[in-house]
Amino acid sequence: MQIAHTSVWRDSPDRYGRISRWLHWGMALLFAWQFIGMGLRLALGRTPLVSFFVGSHSSVGLLLMVLVLLRGAWGLSNAGRRPPHGTGWLGRAAAAGHRALYLLMVVVPLLALVRAYGSGRAFIWFNTLPLWGASPKNEALMAPANAAHGLLAWVLLALVAGHVGMVLLHRWWWRDQVAQRMVGRVR
Ligand code: HEM
Ligand code: HEM
Repeated sequence: MQIAHTSVWRDSPDRYGRISRWLHWGMALLFAWQFIGMGLRLALGRTPLVSFFVGSHSSVGLLLMVLVLLRGAWGLSNAGRRPPHGTGWLGRAAAAGHRALYLLMVVVPLLALVRAYGSGRAFIWFNTLPLWGASPKNEALMAPANAAHGLLAWVLLALVAGHVGMVLLHRWWWRDQVAQRMVGRVR
């Protein structure tokens, strides 16, 4: 039943609203772009197809960094009205899993951006917006991402696989309404 003042844009306890869904699915597509590109690079090396994906890796990564901050802020401003995670150990595991996804969605691009800044090379966002110019290299800023950007990105992909696996369990094994909170019509 439609409650008169419930906006389709905001979240409510029985489903995510339109803004949360645009952020969730838009970012999922951009993550897919990042992982497909880097997966192909590992499998094929530098080919024109790989360059097509990987050429935009840093710019898409910065876009994801901006989007996750907006998504976090939007999540906090909807905190009291979002679909609940449930109480038992499974609910706590779901909440912890979502927090871990956020942590990695912030740390993975942040480390790489700090490295890009320290690399001494200019950064031009999508070949259009110059963000910083060339400067002397700073190894200390590059070390954290050299050690952990790729590794943590693959950990993030593993978490996403677990996340999708749990959604499939909800949809096809327990047959509850959890998947419907993020898909289907927003009422
Ligand atoms: C959240 C967004 C991002 C994801 C999911 C992501 C994912 C990945 C993955 C999976 C790899 C391959 C690691 C390997 O070869 O085993 C990689 C490498 C790389 N990424 Fe990202 N990345 C993101 C953001 C960024 C950003 C913002 C930059 C630059 C500003 C960047 C620059 C690089 C570079 C230079 C490499 C090759 C060197 C390395 O493995 O560390 N990435 N990334
Ligand atoms: C095919 C891929 C995906 C499917 C089917 C999917 C499905 C869902 C569903 C049904 C929910 C609602 C769960 C609930 O209410 O407890 C959800 C929430 C969530 N998903 Fe996904 N998801 C996918 C990809 C991703 C990716 C790539 C990420 C992050 C890298 C992600 C991060 C999250 C987070 C953090 C939440 C909690 C709500 C929020 O803060 O946006 N999902 N997802």
